[in-house]
Amino acid sequence: MSVLSVKNLIYGYSKGTPFEKGALKGVSADFNEGEIVAVIGHTGSGKSTLLQHLNGLLKADSGDVLLNGESIYSSKDALRNCRFNVGLCFQYPEQQLFESTVYKDIAFGPKNMGLDETEIDKRVRSAISFVKLSEDYLDKSPFDLSGGEKRRVAIAGVLAMEPGVLILDEPTAGLDPVGKNDLLRLIVEYNKTTGSTVIFVSHNMDDVASIAQRVLVMSDGGIQLDGTVEEVYSQGERLAELGLDVPEITSLFIGLKKAGYDLGKTEYTVDGAVKSILSYLSERGDG
Ligand SMILES: Nc1ncnc2c1ncn2[C@@H]1O[C@H](COP(=O)(O)OP(=O)(O)O)[C@@H](O)[C@H]1O
Ligand SMILES: [Mg+2]
Repeated sequence: MSVLSVKNLIYGYSKGTPFEKGALKGVSADFNEGEIVAVIGHTGSGKSTLLQHLNGLLKADSGDVLLNGESIYSSKDALRNCRFNVGLCFQYPEQQLFESTVYKDIAFGPKNMGLDETEIDKRVRSAISFVKLSEDYLDKSPFDLSGGEKRRVAIAGVLAMEPGVLILDEPTAGLDPVGKNDLLRLIVEYNKTTGSTVIFVSHNMDDVASIAQRVLVMSDGGIQLDGTVEEVYSQGERLAELGLDVPEITSLFIGLKKAGYDLGKTEYTVDGAVKSILSYLSERGDG
């Protein structure tokens, strides 16, 4: 069953002004329990706007958002429940750290949920360890941390709410390659250990191929493609029309095939490509 569904969402910014802008033009999608879904699309296609509808931060002009089958617009309680169960991590979430200590920042969400001190303490400690920072950090000021550490603290604040659906808007933006890979690994680990659904936006087609099971491609306020990584990435021409590239490793693969190397199915990740090339070489007897 889908944990979260959106039905024909329509949303415009600055309604009734000369700056009116249709940002979602009838978006429908289902998000299933435990899956990792990537949302991709060029800048301005509506990705962030869609994400902010998924936890009720923005309210659709029309259409519906269902969490476990119930409309989040049906009552105040339903909306509140959604805010706590669908954890949204903004782009550059570290810009929203504001408390005097890391502890207080991570505790902010659980506190709002009305949990008792013991439970809050347990969650803060478990969240900081989850993002691979020691408990020594809890007493520090968030402003004394490095960029990558701040990002992890901000994400820990969302994880401490133990959301059944975790949403991240460009989680790896601005991180160096090591920081980026560490964070992608954390996201997968959260998904595996909790069984939570993860929805993330990325403009990096390689990152998407490495962790997502499903990909939604947005353009001009609508979903243009929705399928597995293979299904979506095999449509190179369509992706190019939508202003997107296939991953570098995929371009390399397509190039090798054109040059006459019969490598079988197209690969989308470096790991897959290495395996495929090694097996090709060993079949030829010179690997
Ligand atoms: N706060 C805002 N006010 C007015 N227009 C906005 C605002 N935020 C986004 N938009 C517009 O809505 C459209 C979708 O934006 P957004 O959801 O941020 O796209 P993406 O995240 O894919 O880059 C764009 O045309 C953008 O300019
Ligand atoms: Mg965005």
